[in-house]
Order: sequence, then structure tokens, then C-alpha cells
Amino acid sequence: MVTNTAPVAWPIFVLFIHINNRKMKQHTIALITGGSRGLGKEMALSLAKRGIDVILTYHRQKEEAEGVVREIESLGQKAVALPLNVAETKGFDPFFEAVREALSVTFHAEQINFLINNAGIGTHAQYPDTTEEQLDNLINIHFKAAFFLTQKALPLLADGGGIVNVSSGLARFALPGYAAYGAVKGAVETLTRYQAKELGARKIRVNVIAPGAIETDFGGGAVRDNRELNHFVSSVTALGRAGLPDDIGSVVAFLCTDDAKWINAQRIEVSGGMML
Ligand SMILES: NC(=O)c1ccc[n+]([C@@H]2O[C@H](COP(=O)([O-])OP(=O)(O)OC[C@H]3O[C@@H](n4cnc5c(N)ncnc54)[C@H](OP(=O)(O)O)[C@@H]3O)[C@@H](O)[C@H]2O)c1
Repeated sequence: MVTNTAPVAWPIFVLFIHINNRKMKQHTIALITGGSRGLGKEMALSLAKRGIDVILTYHRQKEEAEGVVREIESLGQKAVALPLNVAETKGFDPFFEAVREALSVTFHAEQINFLINNAGIGTHAQYPDTTEEQLDNLINIHFKAAFFLTQKALPLLADGGGIVNVSSGLARFALPGYAAYGAVKGAVETLTRYQAKELGARKIRVNVIAPGAIETDFGGGAVRDNRELNHFVSSVTALGRAGLPDDIGSVVAFLCTDDAKWINAQRIEVSGGMML
């Protein structure tokens, strides 16, 4: 009996392993805040190109977010867009309920593998003129979200996964008008090291990227649309131009692969060598 069934059983066993491997690959899932436009959109597309499924969030631009979902699907990956205001911590519990449901219904999964804290706004105000309201808003959106949204995500985040926070070159160099923004991003960088320290026990890697000036809608689209500013950025960048969203998306996607498995607790500046 044994000698008769063995040749039949082996191919079935190999097929089973192959299907299981494919299934596991399909189930790598990244959650990106602010995936409707700009850097978050490019991160989402870059991840999809590497075979990673995406849950992306939007604040006001539902249609744009749904467009990103369709683009991801056309790349052969699964995606869902969910509303989220990162400035309101009280919305985080219902948000993660929606994430749980999306995981079950769309992805047939129970956990995410990567969290990318990207959503954000820019505020330009000279230090003497910066109001408490402006500072509070920046703290809520950039720092409290990276702190508490991540905290609430932990039960859903798979061991061995990763977190990417988003800082800015402005946390390293100082340009007039960015005292509040740059200082808050500096706090995000410090938080990253603490998260990496504590989450290492679960083999979760935590890194922070610091983009230079990139041509997006950020800050009213000034780097993209204001020729004088664009020229200034190019002149203080070693590679001689302002950044493009694709310059950033590919780095985040890399951090969410096994190729980056030994990169942890790092600040990676992605600026083409700005303000050296
Ligand atoms: N562009 C740069 O030069 C630059 C440089 C360094 C760092 N960064 C950082 O990179 C990140 C992304 O910037 P970006 O250039 O992609 O900006 P962007 O093009 O203006 O896109 C901002 C994204 O964040 C979302 N968002 C804004 N406020 C939100 C809120 N309260 N709650 C939830 N989502 C919110 C937006 O959603 P809706 O579309 O739905 O409104 C959008 O998806 C930010 O953290 C920013 O600080 C940007």
C-alpha cells in the first residue's frame, strides 16, 4: 500500500505548500494613514507593487482615496479606504472596529503587518507669531496620533511586523517659519526610538523616515507650485532638485519588506541631501 500511494501523495503535498505560501504572501497587509494623496498615496502604490495589500485612510478626500483603491486593485492587490481624522483620539476605537471588519470581510485576515503613520498637515508661522491653537493642532495630528493610534493598533499588529513613522528634514535643519512643525516632528523621532525599544520584544521594527521638501499638496502645494521656493529647495539639495512623491514611497515599501529586516530604530532622511 505504502509504495503505491507515495508517488501520488508527494505532488499533492508540494501543491499544498505552494498554495499556502501564496496565501501567506497575499496576506501581508499595511495600514497607511493619509493614503488619499501625496506621499501616502505613493507609499500605498509602492507597497502594492511589492505584493502587499493596503488599508488606507482619508480625512476629506474620499473620492481620491477610492481612486487609489482602484489603482491598487489594478496592480493585483486588495485595498480598502476608511475614513479617519487622526486629530481626534476618541475616534480611534471605532476606527479600529472598522479595520477589524475590513480585515475579516475583504482580506480574510485578523491582523495587519505594517502601520505607516503618514497623515499630516504643514503649518507655516514665524515663531513669535505661532499660536497655541496651531501648536496644539500639530501636536494632535503628528505626535498624539503616532503615539495613541499606534498604541491602539498594537493588538492588531502582527508580531514580526513593522511601523514607519514620518518625520521631516525640518527636525534636523531649521528654516524660518517651521518652529512648531519641526519641533513636533522631532518628538515623533524620539518616540520612534522608544517604540522600537519596547516593541522589539515582539520583533516589531520601528523606523522613522524624514523626507526633504517634496512636491505634493502639503503646505498648500508650495514646493510644487511656487517657482521661487522650488528653486530655493533645488539650490540647497545636493542632487539639485526638489523631491517627488515616488522618491519617498519606494523607501517606505522597502522598509516593509524582509530586505530591511535588520533596520530598526533608525531615522532615515530621504531628501536628496538637503541642507548639508
Ligand atoms: N511634502 C513634503 O514636503 C513633506 C516633507 C516632510 C514630511 N512630510 C510629511 O509627510 C506626510 C504626508 O505629507 P504629504 O506631502 O503627502 O501631504 P498632502 O499631500 O497634503 O497629503 C496629506 C494626507 O494626510 C491626510 N490628512 C490630513 N489631515 C488629516 C487628519 N486630520 N486626519 C487624517 N488624515 C489627514 C490627507 O487626507 P485627505 O486627502 O482626505 O484630506 C492626505 O491623505 C506628513 O506627515 C508630512 O508632515 C511632507
